[in-house]
Amino acid sequence: MALKNRQKAEKEYKKAQAAEKAAEREYKRALAAEKAAAKKAEQKAKAEKRQQAQEAARKAREADRKAKEAERKAREAEKEAKEAERQANQATVAKKPAKKTAKPKKAKQTAKPRKVAAKVAKPAKPKRVVKASALAKPKRLRKSETEAGIIKKHGQADKPYTKQQDKEQEKKRKAFKEREKQLAKITKLHSKEILEGKVVSISNNVPDVKDNIIELFDVKKSYLTGDLEYEVLKGIDLKIKKGTFVVILGPSGSGKTTLLNIISGLDKANQGDVFVSGYNLSLLKDSHLTKFRRDTVGFIFQQYNLLTNLTARENAEVGENLAKTKNKALGIDEIFKVIEMDEHMNKFPSQLSGGQQQRVSIGRALAKNPKILFCDEPTGALDEEMGRKVLEILLDVNKAFKTSIIMVTHNPNFQYVADIVISVKNGSITSVKHNASPKKPSEINWG
Ligand SMILES: Nc1ncnc2c1ncn2[C@@H]1O[C@H](COP(=O)(O)OP(=O)(O)OP(=O)(O)O)[C@@H](O)[C@H]1O
Ligand SMILES: [Mg+2]
Repeated sequence: MALKNRQKAEKEYKKAQAAEKAAEREYKRALAAEKAAAKKAEQKAKAEKRQQAQEAARKAREADRKAKEAERKAREAEKEAKEAERQANQATVAKKPAKKTAKPKKAKQTAKPRKVAAKVAKPAKPKRVVKASALAKPKRLRKSETEAGIIKKHGQADKPYTKQQDKEQEKKRKAFKEREKQLAKITKLHSKEILEGKVVSISNNVPDVKDNIIELFDVKKSYLTGDLEYEVLKGIDLKIKKGTFVVILGPSGSGKTTLLNIISGLDKANQGDVFVSGYNLSLLKDSHLTKFRRDTVGFIFQQYNLLTNLTARENAEVGENLAKTKNKALGIDEIFKVIEMDEHMNKFPSQLSGGQQQRVSIGRALAKNPKILFCDEPTGALDEEMGRKVLEILLDVNKAFKTSIIMVTHNPNFQYVADIVISVKNGSITSVKHNASPKKPSEINWG
């Protein structure tokens, strides 16, 4: 009996021991799972925090860039206006008779501003194509050093670099600077002759200057921010025929404005040829680019950049005075009829609505008699009614004067009024569509 009891007790003891061990195992497992979950949550929180910080940094950079861009454009407009005023003043002083015979208004209309670019030959008949690359060949870069290898995307910039990465960045920065140096050298060699009508190509391509107003060959643009090179345009090829109405569409940050700035001579590509009206803008030095812009192109921005102390008419006269040749096709009065502003010519900008001010800025651009009108979000600050009006006027200008119009917009509905629709995504052109029968602005949806 005693033996039986002892055996039973031992059995129960072992059972209790096994249960205790199992409980301990279970506890350890739960503890490990809890630790793993905590670690995972911590990692997730860290990743989210890092992502938020990177996004905030990206937004700050973008805001900073946009502010600088707006500042630059305002400076540019102010410079052009000052130059026009200076020319107009000089002309008025030169023509002013000793006595009070002529009315100042009349003097303003008849006086000829001094022609700054009078000696510049038109690039109508290029005789021969000089291959710039043969003259000063930029140092050839190895694949690892070319754009594809060196681009660091936004968002990655905030991760700390290893020593090896630091070295690579330094090498890339040097390669970027070296390319810029080479380009400056070729520019110095050819800028003047390009302005005088010679066709000079870096990529050995011959542009069709008779039919095409714009031809781009493998155009790349990158910015060096700190030690990082960020490629914004990744090899753009494009041909636009004279007199075309082009709309450039694409998501925010895709490179639309950068492309427009490069085609219009507000900014320069780091690689490739940008032929506009026969001039290779990639190889024009800054002062020659200014001449090109003054004589060949007009700009319309989202903000109208009118001079507030001048009337609508005087603002347009500033544009007229900037022109190399006076607008023979259209005088200021006719222009104000086209933009349907003839009743408001003597009002100051503060007395006009947004759409009316934008029409005056179109008038100012037209008074220069430009071959191309570049418009960056021209209806971006307008309501639907005024926006449609401005779009109609731009189309009228395109039809009536065969002015080529290149317009950047966020509004996908605008593609239906254009002859050609270029879609840009992530620094590349993803499609170029031809519109067989473009619609009228009144026929498209707006918002
Ligand atoms: N000067 C600069 N320095 C550094 N990065 C720049 C500079 N200019 C543009 N970028 C970058 O190039 C990219 C394209 O900019 P861009 O202004 O061309 O875009 P977008 O398509 O016009 O955008 P949105 O529709 O918002 O106007 C952006 O990521 C921008 O941050
Ligand atoms: Mg833009």
